[in-house]
Amino acid sequence: MLLLGLLNCVVARKGFLQMRQNLPRCGICCSRPVCRKRQRSSRKCCVMQAGTGILDGTTVSDAFFTPLKVGTLTLAHRIVMAPMTRIRADEATFAPDDLTALYYEQRASEGGLLITEAVHISPEATPIWTIYQRVTEKGGQVPGLWTTQQMLAWRKVVQRVHAKGGRIFCQLLHTGRVAQPDIALHPFVKDTDAPLPPVSSSNRGIDASDEQGNQYNWDKPSSPPRALATHEVARVIGDYVHAARLAHQAGFDGVELHAAHGYLIEQFLNDGVNDRTDAYGGTVANRCRLLKEIVAALVAELGDGRVSVRLSPTHIDPETGQSRQTYFGVGDSAPEVLYAHAVEAMNAYPLAYLMLTEPRVGGLSDAPEQERAYAYPVANADYREMYDGVLIGAGGFTPATARAAISMGIYDAIAFGRWFISNPDLPARLKAGIDLTVYERATFYGAGSEGYTDYPTLNAPLGRYRQVAQHDIGVRLPGTQKDNI
Ligand SMILES: Cc1cc2nc3c(=O)[nH]c(=O)nc-3n(C[C@H](O)[C@H](O)[C@H](O)COP(=O)(O)O)c2cc1C
Repeated sequence: MLLLGLLNCVVARKGFLQMRQNLPRCGICCSRPVCRKRQRSSRKCCVMQAGTGILDGTTVSDAFFTPLKVGTLTLAHRIVMAPMTRIRADEATFAPDDLTALYYEQRASEGGLLITEAVHISPEATPIWTIYQRVTEKGGQVPGLWTTQQMLAWRKVVQRVHAKGGRIFCQLLHTGRVAQPDIALHPFVKDTDAPLPPVSSSNRGIDASDEQGNQYNWDKPSSPPRALATHEVARVIGDYVHAARLAHQAGFDGVELHAAHGYLIEQFLNDGVNDRTDAYGGTVANRCRLLKEIVAALVAELGDGRVSVRLSPTHIDPETGQSRQTYFGVGDSAPEVLYAHAVEAMNAYPLAYLMLTEPRVGGLSDAPEQERAYAYPVANADYREMYDGVLIGAGGFTPATARAAISMGIYDAIAFGRWFISNPDLPARLKAGIDLTVYERATFYGAGSEGYTDYPTLNAPLGRYRQVAQHDIGVRLPGTQKDNI
């Protein structure tokens, strides 16, 4: 009798677990299938809003479509295109071409904001990404913005976006120690006296085990960087200002400073890399100095409301104690203290917006129904309390969790990455609740129109692509995925 009781219990529990598995997950203030707890922030848990349609994505009287003032712009909706490197610039000149202009034009919408892929401010800032097999096979380069020729090429992109009523910011990047010396051999750089990579805050290289562990698939070991001398910092800031000036001449509505994802500025912010003893190292305030000086210089160049910043706060997972969101081995001994300082410091500048990356990008598969990262809770809600301006979130949002994050006031707008790659008309689809075309990871990087400009718009034939219902994203979670974007 007792055994039968136990068996019933086991069967009932199994059924319950299966049922739990199929329930929609919160993804906002917790990752539980049914969210009961109020956590961390003083805001109400989103389960309070269940039944309003926010969680199941059926709400179409819509948080997305409330206008938003962003610096000098008034956006018609809050669906921003996140910056995404596509490695399709001209190999000879590091300039965007007509295909790139078409790509951004396709994704422009009336009153919508696009952010370009990372645009490199100098040869020293520029990596050659042959680690991606498709790039080796098909070619393609990351774009730059340090010559007049590049500026004129970007102007064509901007004009096409503006002609559709869209707005566009240019993301400025220096990759620091991620760039490698092979660029010295490139004909466009070879006979110039441009400073060459890799430089960083220190001479600490990317740890080989980290490269391995994070599956970067380098085709050769990365070279240890040279620590920038104190007197060189002004020159690097000058390179950012030069690129911003060219961005203005190209007609961009503003620039986004890429201070995230393990690149140069993060290599100064984080004490896992920065071991300097000058004014740019040591205390948190000193490590944030480069960030602040660049922001101040960009604002002085472009004026109020035309500069924005992207940060990717490292998050210590409360359940595992592990840090999430370290890129290229760039980590800090006290990330909460560091990023609180960096975020609060941004209040001193008249930024258009601050963008934060959520620590939940992930998934090497093309199966968004099963991607675990889509169900991780929002981790950056505390930073909302620290920043007074427009706050944009990016990383692992579904249409439903994005709406909820805006409705709850955690973020003012959401930047979508992969869904914008595969859905050129994403705002229209989100408005109407129409199925989304699924992105194809294999064609993210490398030259050519495939996986770039050939995704269908509404009512066009699907071809080799497939679609997913908006409410099915992230709901079938059992498979494990590797984190790596
Ligand atoms: C192909 C690809 C390229 C990316 N390149 C950049 C980049 O150049 N700059 C940047 O800040 N983030 C970059 N990201 C990160 C995205 O901006 C975004 O945070 C990420 O895709 C997660 O958002 P999602 O879940 O909506 O795709 C890239 C992401 C992808 C998928």
